[in-house]
Amino acid sequence: MKNEQTIEKKRENMAQNNLTKDRNLFPRTLDIPEVLLKDIPCIQTGYLADGELRVWNGPRQEVLSPVWVTDDNGSRPFFIGEYPLLTEAEAFQALDAAAAAYDHGRGLWPTMSVAERIAHMEQFIFRMIEVRDRVVRLLMWEVGKSLQDSEKEFDRTIKYSNDTLAALKDLDRISSRFTIEEGIIGQIRRAPLGVVLCMGPFNYPLNETFTTLIPALVMGNTVILKPPKHGALLYSPLLEAFRDVFPKGVINVIYGRGRKMIPSLMASGRINVLGLIGTSTTANALKKLHPHPNRLRCVLGLEAKNPAIVLKGSDPDLAVRECVSGCLSFNGQRCTALKILFVEACIADEFLERFSETVNSLSFGMPWKEEVFITPVTEKGKTDYLHELVSDAVSKGARVVNQAGGAVHGNFFFPAVLYPVNPEMRVYHEEQFGPVIPVLPFEKIDEPIEYMINSNYGQQVSIFGSDPDQIAQLIDPLVNQVCRVNINSQCQRGPDTFPFTGRKDSAEGTLSVSDALRVFSIRTLVAAKQTDLNRQIITRIVQDHKSKFLATDFIL
Ligand code: G3H
Repeated sequence: MKNEQTIEKKRENMAQNNLTKDRNLFPRTLDIPEVLLKDIPCIQTGYLADGELRVWNGPRQEVLSPVWVTDDNGSRPFFIGEYPLLTEAEAFQALDAAAAAYDHGRGLWPTMSVAERIAHMEQFIFRMIEVRDRVVRLLMWEVGKSLQDSEKEFDRTIKYSNDTLAALKDLDRISSRFTIEEGIIGQIRRAPLGVVLCMGPFNYPLNETFTTLIPALVMGNTVILKPPKHGALLYSPLLEAFRDVFPKGVINVIYGRGRKMIPSLMASGRINVLGLIGTSTTANALKKLHPHPNRLRCVLGLEAKNPAIVLKGSDPDLAVRECVSGCLSFNGQRCTALKILFVEACIADEFLERFSETVNSLSFGMPWKEEVFITPVTEKGKTDYLHELVSDAVSKGARVVNQAGGAVHGNFFFPAVLYPVNPEMRVYHEEQFGPVIPVLPFEKIDEPIEYMINSNYGQQVSIFGSDPDQIAQLIDPLVNQVCRVNINSQCQRGPDTFPFTGRKDSAEGTLSVSDALRVFSIRTLVAAKQTDLNRQIITRIVQDHKSKFLATDFIL
């Protein structure tokens, strides 16, 4: 045992040396491309409530990047800005404003025609594109996502927003007609739900927040948006556009510690929809606070521990490539990441060798380095947690298979491939949300299936294989365990027109371009018996454009 610990220590030291030897891992401030330092630090002093950018003179949160900088005294996290630490009082200003703008469904925004709301949204998208570079830069600095992926996140969000508007036009066209059934004339449309509280995650602070924000707004709801702890500054370039484009109170943006502000908003009973991409612990705690559970709709994207099942006969290059990308894109900080790999025992050695080789060849460094793959992890203290997971697994019989695996430098954690992992280890159960990859050999297919049955999560699975009979036999039981079975490819959310959801503690409600319009609205209708009087009333209303709801106008 002692000998094993010494070997482990030596390995760690070796790995550590390999990383620290690379003196350029963290740059000196002078070496950072100047264009990336534009607007840094970003001191955010305002918040948006009731159509006003209100100045906050109270305490602010210092924002340190996961990227560290080096000088003669060593390395330290790079200071990139500050944002307001608001209190409950400001959170309630936002709630009052959102509730007033909704005005029990009588407000300007919820009663506006769909075409008019779409026009506002188009203006907003235009204004958003104008500040692309600033948002992308802040996104990169705040969460440590590569510049290239930060750009992709921005562009994906614009596409998502445009696709949402196109889907709404389609929905509206379908609803712009009357249905006559059993002597009753009806017009059925989707109507808003009320005040939506939108909170997104740090790993996709723009995109995932907007996948709830945009459909919530365009369906006529009013919104309180609280950006995540990491990924708050990037909202700064958008505040003016929010203020200018939307009627006052329709969108309100508050900053600060969720734990301080959000519970009382929920306890007020005035939040109608909770749109949260985060953890089930937070979601459950918040839901319980609402005094009228039946008046609260929840749209939740939560944890996941998606497994890959690699079968004998699978294409080894393809399986390794997809698993590496699935496990390690954005350092494994994706809810859809592959977080545990089950490999058929007879191919485990070959798989591991190729897998570790590929992991070790990944380009690592600062987010702006061209083609960089592994960057510093976002959260402070995360490397300690990842190190604990690795140590726990090693103490219970796993090896770190790849050279330099688990080496830490500042907020940088070199991916660790752990093998063989077993149920005694924490990493078998916990969602690591970082660059630690547990691998298990299996003899019988029941082993990964049992894992999924017993898991608290049920988002997706990836199957790698080539035998159609074997794959078909897995598909049928697995579609009842998770909400997406990927064949010979990693797990992922996209394309954004596909439904994105999960079972158990992984999600509530379905998100996709068209599904999101549905979850943030409710079907409602106007109905009348087919009498002469009613026909005349409806005809007059429609012909004279007297109602926004009871109308047959077509958005082209
Ligand atoms: O973190 C969860 C994201 O929704 C994953 O999206 O699969 O496109 O990376 P993605």
